[in-house]
Amino acid sequence: MVYRVSGARSVFLSLLFVLYIPSFAMPQEPSNDAIERRIDALLGQMTVEEKAGQLTLLDGINPRIPDLVKQGLAGSIINAYGAERANSIQRIAMEQSRLKIPLIFGYDVIHGYRTIFPLPLASAGSFDPEMIERSERVAAKESTAAGVKWVFAPMVDIARDPRWGRIVEGAGEDPYLGSVVAVARVRGFQGDSMADPQSVVACVKHFAAYGAAEGGRDYNTVDISEQLLREVYLSPFHAAVSAGVGTLMSAFNDLNGVPATANRHLLTGILRDEWKFDGLVVSDYDAVRELIDHGVAGDRPEAALKAITAGTDVDMVDGVYASLPQLVQSGKLPMSVLDEAVRRVLRVKIRAGLFEHPYADPSREKTDLLTAENRQVSRQMAQESIVLLKNEGNLLPLDRHVKSLAVIGPLADDKATQLGSWAAQGQAKDAITPLEGIRSKTGNTPIFFAEGVTLDSLVPRKEATTILAAPAPSTAVGAPGISVNRGPTSIRDAVNAAKKADVAVLVLGEPANMTGEASSRATFDFPGEQQELLQAIVAVGKPVVLVLESGRPLDIRWANDHVPAIIQAWYLGTEAGNALADVLFGEVSPSARLPLSWPRFVGQVPVYYNHKSTGRPTSADRWHTGYQYESMEPLFPFGYGLTYTTFKYSNLKILTPTVSPTGRLRVTADIQNAGERPAVEVVQLYVHDRVAPTSRPVRELKGFTRVALAPGESKTVEFSVRANDLGSYDPDMHWIVPSGTYDVWVAPNAITGIPGTFQMLGH
Ligand code: BGC
Repeated sequence: MVYRVSGARSVFLSLLFVLYIPSFAMPQEPSNDAIERRIDALLGQMTVEEKAGQLTLLDGINPRIPDLVKQGLAGSIINAYGAERANSIQRIAMEQSRLKIPLIFGYDVIHGYRTIFPLPLASAGSFDPEMIERSERVAAKESTAAGVKWVFAPMVDIARDPRWGRIVEGAGEDPYLGSVVAVARVRGFQGDSMADPQSVVACVKHFAAYGAAEGGRDYNTVDISEQLLREVYLSPFHAAVSAGVGTLMSAFNDLNGVPATANRHLLTGILRDEWKFDGLVVSDYDAVRELIDHGVAGDRPEAALKAITAGTDVDMVDGVYASLPQLVQSGKLPMSVLDEAVRRVLRVKIRAGLFEHPYADPSREKTDLLTAENRQVSRQMAQESIVLLKNEGNLLPLDRHVKSLAVIGPLADDKATQLGSWAAQGQAKDAITPLEGIRSKTGNTPIFFAEGVTLDSLVPRKEATTILAAPAPSTAVGAPGISVNRGPTSIRDAVNAAKKADVAVLVLGEPANMTGEASSRATFDFPGEQQELLQAIVAVGKPVVLVLESGRPLDIRWANDHVPAIIQAWYLGTEAGNALADVLFGEVSPSARLPLSWPRFVGQVPVYYNHKSTGRPTSADRWHTGYQYESMEPLFPFGYGLTYTTFKYSNLKILTPTVSPTGRLRVTADIQNAGERPAVEVVQLYVHDRVAPTSRPVRELKGFTRVALAPGESKTVEFSVRANDLGSYDPDMHWIVPSGTYDVWVAPNAITGIPGTFQMLGH
């Protein structure tokens, strides 16, 4: 290619080329043969104890780290973040251990390392894989700057049950969206090469079906059909493996009677034999030892034997794999099984470039964390994660010249809440609260702030005060124009604030520690007296905007009937308040969609859009599936979300009215912005196979795209889907593409849209 440039521009361009050289000279992963030869050479020198060492992951709090590392009895460490700290441990491995095999340092980077992004469930709702990839790229850069080369993310568990606290860590209920998001996150983390000093090795978790825990209770049993497992729960894992993810984590739960950690069908049959995965599998925290509690192993050696034989290569923190040498010596464990597990670990370390670059560059930790640029990516991701659920009478966007505002609620000015659960090295002091975000957008507009009920009162547990403790933000207290009502607070204070203002913005929801691991709930009520607060504010009679911060859909039936504008903000991360204010005041139109169906009430759970038809599909008639006196429809469907304009869908064209099973389905539709504001529409493609050997979901998402449209503008959107991706498993678990009639919809959510049909031809 020839570039013709002249004069000053050419100097500038050549400078750019010089500056860009490093990114072209990306560290290359060595060829497979070279890697295997290197591993053979190492294996030939290792004692059986050193082999077990490579399969042992220690917790950073373990006081024996220096000693164990020196003896070659550890291969990886979790929670030893910070470049200096990681380097000082690595130095022991590289300088004092016999074989000088580098350690790999792992950490849970669930939604950012220091710059915190929206919770994964929230960002999944952006339906924007490019933006998600960018945000994980930032997370990878920050992590590696702090010595972390391996992230225990992304969590790709499909979940249909919001009682489960960990629903907030995944991408929601849909296997297709879940797969697209999983691939985007893996790409962001691993970049073009895991050996890039700014890339991390990703770890998709929790393999598998952890999100299907009975009753939504964390760690609980999962007993599901092989078909459901493969068509729904395994999809994102398979997509991530195909995209080259380096590692997987096995799940805590038992699956169809066999705990995932000891599940050979899963870890070897499906993962290695069918999918050809050649990276490593790490157990979850203490999960090898937990095989004893599951009741499938009588003691630690038996737990170790079951786990490694099934395909769990690395034992996280419980030290149970210390019995591997003894198992080999007694003849219970073939050396070949041990060698294979060690081979996988070494393969990942070589691919990650650790033998060449074992140390982190400590200077980067000072320059690369929480940069203005990183915050900007987080802000954009947060803007795209906000779901507008209701906007009666176009109350939103608010006029930034509004005469006065009340900002109310226990979460409205709490910094820690904005980060959400599992926020790695995110610090509450860096987070922008909704009050602060609104303040900086509205200049000198008088703002009357009242918590109404205290944050501490929301969590019934004793530890509430310590977990929720967040220092009062000094920027807000006494800032010009804000009346702060701290200390004792009451619903009456909040009512008074609302009375003084033209509009009230209420920020209610769940404290962050009511979500995430070990945080299942049996109700979706507003914790504490927030429902009373809400009703008291609505009774004042001023326009009310309800902003929800939570890790799951709450029961908002009353709010939906009485509050004109409702926003689901989840937990938006470091830039939460700014992103929220950008949307509240209309600088950005909301564009996120629900990555799950929003139940009306807890008794409907599980409620998900891609359910089966049944022999008695729902109807008004009593003798059909549903509830006697209650709706079985969700309050809001999967894929739902409003914006500040309206879109018209028209002119559905099935470009391929007949599709060969080896061909593609091609569909177009026209989307028009029929309103007065620029906005982004998430256009969705759903398909339904009318007759198949197994009963099929009433709809399945098979494509989506974000379309930005100016007022009045119209675009033709085209979907092109491989026919093979429209197939299903037959009862013998063979993937087939049944012939016959299929329904198709181009739609703004999972329950509406313009319908059409096409014929799938036989083979
Ligand atoms: C979680 C994992 C996590 C691990 C290490 C476990 O309790 O289930 O998701 O990666 O801890 O922190």
